[in-house]
Amino acid sequence: MELTPEEQEMAEGKYGKATQKAMEILITLGDIYGAKRFIDITSVQIAGVSYANLNEPGLEWLAEMAKDGKVRVFTTLNPAGMDLEEWRKLAISEEFAKNQQRVVEAFGAMGVITTCSCTPYLYGNLPHYGQHIAWSESSAVCYANSVLGARTNREGGPSALSAALIGKTPEYGFHLEENRQPEIKVVVKPKVEGTFQFGALGKVLGDRLGKKISYITGIPKASVEELKSFCASYATYGGVALFHMEGITPDRVEAIPSETTEVTEEDMKKAIADLNEDTEIDFISLGCPHASLAELEYIAKQLEGKKVNPKKETWITTARPTKQIADRMGFTKMIEDSGAKIAADTCCVVAPIKGRFHGLASDSAKMCYYGSGRNKFSVKLMSVDECIEEALR
Ligand code: F3S
Repeated sequence: MELTPEEQEMAEGKYGKATQKAMEILITLGDIYGAKRFIDITSVQIAGVSYANLNEPGLEWLAEMAKDGKVRVFTTLNPAGMDLEEWRKLAISEEFAKNQQRVVEAFGAMGVITTCSCTPYLYGNLPHYGQHIAWSESSAVCYANSVLGARTNREGGPSALSAALIGKTPEYGFHLEENRQPEIKVVVKPKVEGTFQFGALGKVLGDRLGKKISYITGIPKASVEELKSFCASYATYGGVALFHMEGITPDRVEAIPSETTEVTEEDMKKAIADLNEDTEIDFISLGCPHASLAELEYIAKQLEGKKVNPKKETWITTARPTKQIADRMGFTKMIEDSGAKIAADTCCVVAPIKGRFHGLASDSAKMCYYGSGRNKFSVKLMSVDECIEEALR
């Protein structure tokens, strides 16, 4: 890669050891992917925050970087392994909590905003069309590239932190216009509605098309909540970081591909059936990706004055700022009076809950994927209303 004089000095260690290490990581990446230069970025989002994923070696690496590293752009974090304030109510152990706090402190020492969420675009880390960023949470990357029209590759935790420390990323992949054009047209025949159906559609397309960039038609409208669920699922099942949706996403498409595939009612039914195991539910997870304020309001109103079955643990995961507004609006009280719990800063995949539950119900196809694969739960994909009914039953 060709370096500017300042970048050269960063690589030689003039700006400290963490910056030098960051340059080493990014130059290696740039060389692998054929980048010619670095480009400026406006924001970063870092995944790999849970101590359950990092463990001691990951934490030691972070602590080393935090000795003299400081981020140069606005940077936020992905969910941690627990609610950073109310971890006891989620039955997280003291030892895990202590280590998770050390992780968050290391990021904080580098100037990272320690709000931990997979939907940073809902609370202020919101790039606009055409801005270059370096994000790593797969659902947020897909949302930023596709729905917002920002430009990011799917970074790993270390490369995202490195990009934050130098304020730049190597120019390759989705930063280049020529790599953003659709390769296949998708015609969606059935009506798709609600977060769980959008998640099911993401599974159909991800399973069928893998990483091919699709141009999706047949979706006349989609809410932010439906799109975030779709992005999470499509990125999970297909590894996708970018799609186009006719009339909904902003990127200019030069030509609509001639290769076409259809999604039928049968495809949708099969995807939903594949994620519906015959199981007793003892854990209900809503808020994957992190619940918006509108979702919290809806759930609060459905639960108001009712009690969830105490044998069924019910978590609604969300970002701290969203919870703070929910507190003020009384939504948190309505939810928690029912016995359900708002779990801020965390997610049911990265919290240390493997083995604690048996059967998971969720409106998120992504949560079903990881609930089954990582936490070994049996799973059921349901609508939000069905999840709430299940919790109350
Ligand atoms: Fe977010 Fe966790 Fe779902 S990171 S997208 S709540 S699996």
